[in-house]
Amino acid sequence: MLAITLEHNNPKPLYEQLKNQLIRQIEDGHLAPGDRLPATRDLAEQLGVARISVVAAYDDLKANGYIEARVGRGTFVAEPDITPIEHDTSVLAGTSRPQGAALRELLRLAGRPGVIDFGQGTPPDSFLPVDIIRESINTVLTRDGGAAISYEVPEGFPPLREAIATSFNRRGIDITAGEVLITGGCQQALDLAIQALLNPGDVLLTSNPTYPGILDIAYARGVIPVGVPVDEEGLQVDQLETLIVEHRPRLIYIAPTYHNPTGTVMPLHRRRTLLTLAERYRVPVLEDGVYEELNTVGTPPPPLKALDTANLVLYASSFSKVLLPGMRIGYLLASGQLYRRLARVKTAADICTPALNQRAIHLALESGQIDDHLVNVRAACRSRRTAMLTAMTRHWPEANWIEPTGGLYLWVKLPEDGPTATELYLNAVRNNVAFAIGPLFYTNERGSHHLRLNMVAHPPDVIEQGIARLASTWKDLVIGYEYPEQDFSGPFL
Ligand SMILES: Cc1ncc(COP(=O)(O)O)c(C=O)c1O
Repeated sequence: MLAITLEHNNPKPLYEQLKNQLIRQIEDGHLAPGDRLPATRDLAEQLGVARISVVAAYDDLKANGYIEARVGRGTFVAEPDITPIEHDTSVLAGTSRPQGAALRELLRLAGRPGVIDFGQGTPPDSFLPVDIIRESINTVLTRDGGAAISYEVPEGFPPLREAIATSFNRRGIDITAGEVLITGGCQQALDLAIQALLNPGDVLLTSNPTYPGILDIAYARGVIPVGVPVDEEGLQVDQLETLIVEHRPRLIYIAPTYHNPTGTVMPLHRRRTLLTLAERYRVPVLEDGVYEELNTVGTPPPPLKALDTANLVLYASSFSKVLLPGMRIGYLLASGQLYRRLARVKTAADICTPALNQRAIHLALESGQIDDHLVNVRAACRSRRTAMLTAMTRHWPEANWIEPTGGLYLWVKLPEDGPTATELYLNAVRNNVAFAIGPLFYTNERGSHHLRLNMVAHPPDVIEQGIARLASTWKDLVIGYEYPEQDFSGPFL
């Protein structure tokens, strides 16, 4: 029996009183790592409260790393050090990526010489600030000597963390350097969050379609991704509550600004609804802001992190999409016990992110050269976006697309009664043009008639040529195409 006393007339909610008392007992050692906590139903009965209060307290404690659920065995006080995830193979069996390897193999065809490839997920090499980085690396090596090529502290080079915190403070996000964890790109930031917050068999809610890298992480960690539909305004938050109640997710992943692959931006009212639901059901949100600074038309609404009053949002991003994908410098914003847990997972993963890269980026940021470079990158993105939209309108009016206001991608929908994106792809590669096919981005069997085009991968004249080739491949394919008999009515996305 746990020694817990709840005050029913205390203005603090019961679940919070319970949570705080459990934290105290864990922190002062009354509850030791590995101790089993009572089942929620039993504890609710013992305390004379609704079971939902106990569930909410346990959920919060789990989110903050104090306790952990072990599949089929119950809830236990977590070890202070990271315990390796126990891979329960029966759980993993259902979570291998459907057709993932085959799809990737298909995309390798795009690497043939002469192919105009619109499939990449990165800015083109010609956008990368080679001179700025060369100068920064040389300066850092001269300035810091061995420290520049030694281990860095696991949390990251302190002045870089300071610079990142300051840039977020300017955007209305009240964080300190102590809440910035430097990671190996945004991908590692997402992976660390999933490792720290979820166990195999837990559910991750994600937009559907979504960034394929989050699906790779989910499948590798034995986590079950469940999709939330997306429309022209991003995540359909009106469907979220039902999915939360049905699946009891441990985390919601979303890129609200210039979403990959659809390019959509969630308006402010949807952001607020998402946060209200996250708070009501105590589900943390993993916000991916990796494209946020690539606005080409107007300014997007503030990040979820800036609107989060319940401290439920973890924010992940990197310098990859705007600048330097190969430097592998990203970051995760989190606080308190969760931050410490994330730092331990990070140390276990790779000890630290390379010191030289962190210091070189820091120097380039501080000198203002990165901001200047970004201005040029945005201008180039804007003109390539215009070239892409013009070419699509001119050559391929039969297709539909969402006009993006930033980011790298154009999400295209083919007429549903015609060839699929995969059929088109196989023919397009023969005509020396390629793209990313829709099914790569879905948690389920959808996306057969979607494709993603990188709008900025090529200069305007090559975009024009590539889209002309793609559209004519599609038109040739449509002639004589055997239409399967089915009902084609369906939403755009
Ligand atoms: C939405 C999204 N998040 C994260 C990443 C990974 O970024 P990084 O290169 O910083 O690891 C990508 C890369 O394509 C992405 O599209």
